[in-house]
Amino acid sequence: ASSDHVRIVEVGPRDGLQNERAPLPAEVKIALIDRLSATGLETIEATSFVSPKWVPQLADAAEVYRGIRKVPGVSYPVLVPNLQGYERARAVGAAEVAVFTAASEAFNRRNVNASIDESIERFVPVLERARADGVAVRGYVSTVLGCPYQGEVPVGDVVRVARRLHELGCHEVSLGDTIGVGTPAKARAMLRAVAQEVPMATLAVHFHDTYGQALANILACLEEGVRVVDSAVSGTGGCPYAKGATGNVASEDVVYMLHGMGLHTGVDLDLLVATGAWLAAQLHKETASRVTRARTAA
Ligand code: HMG
Ligand code: MG
Repeated sequence: ASSDHVRIVEVGPRDGLQNERAPLPAEVKIALIDRLSATGLETIEATSFVSPKWVPQLADAAEVYRGIRKVPGVSYPVLVPNLQGYERARAVGAAEVAVFTAASEAFNRRNVNASIDESIERFVPVLERARADGVAVRGYVSTVLGCPYQGEVPVGDVVRVARRLHELGCHEVSLGDTIGVGTPAKARAMLRAVAQEVPMATLAVHFHDTYGQALANILACLEEGVRVVDSAVSGTGGCPYAKGATGNVASEDVVYMLHGMGLHTGVDLDLLVATGAWLAAQLHKETASRVTRARTAA
């Protein structure tokens, strides 16, 4: 039987903020992460050490990472695309990192200017160094249910890339529906295929909510046995190199659903809702979380 605990990987400070038109000041990003740390979340992806030319919104990664209060028991992984990013992350003391590639060549080329195999070659030295340094590495596979440039993505390509990341030593592989086009039966079949090659306990799901399917997809994947779910407070997010991608599923909505199903997250929903409402105000936009809208309606 699967555990009744689900670990939420809060990606709002990274995925959520990498795609905002008007970047938030570093002190607001730090305040966001500190607020999230108080909600009971176990994992908060803090920022990204990619090229500041490619993602200017997160050019302040070092300042943000240094500025956050590291609460014992909470992990603060950061995204790194290559050894240069890894070194920048380590210079400020990052203890966990995430590498990323895709199941679609066309998307990966636009996102990291490299083929899938080339991007994996760049991770090999990152994983070697991380192993020596005792740094845990998460791996992301993007475009697992569709690509904005290539269209359909064969499930075999998702399995191949996920298995490679697992074999290289990623402790967890997150399967990303980058543009939020998947539907539940397709999500379930994709996860089932990957889980034949990579242990379910090391898999996570990462749904963007572009087509409003994210919660349904998560439910299908929970039924398959996944117990790690990526989401972003207030439903922010998107990838600047994925045409048409909108926000991640809102963490508030995921936590509400999980608790309603009798699953445990350790997250205080009231504190999360307050944080989501605060973030939406900072961004001068309406929250994408239905739960936060419902709870904060006048
Ligand atoms: P490139 O231009 O091919 O790189 O970019 P390069 O190695 O030729 O280097 C070019 C310049 O960038 C050099 O500087 C390097 O020093 C610099 P110059 O000599 O021109 O002054 N550079 C860096 N600077 C700082 N930190 C670094 C770094 N690396 C190189 N780490 C590269 C290749 C991968 C760097 C670039 O394409 C890049 O940064 N891409 C990141 C795109 C990105 O962040 N996308 C969003 C994250 S992925 C995502 O959102 C999906 C996910 O959420 C899951 C899902 O939803 O599917 C994870
Ligand atoms: Mg994403």
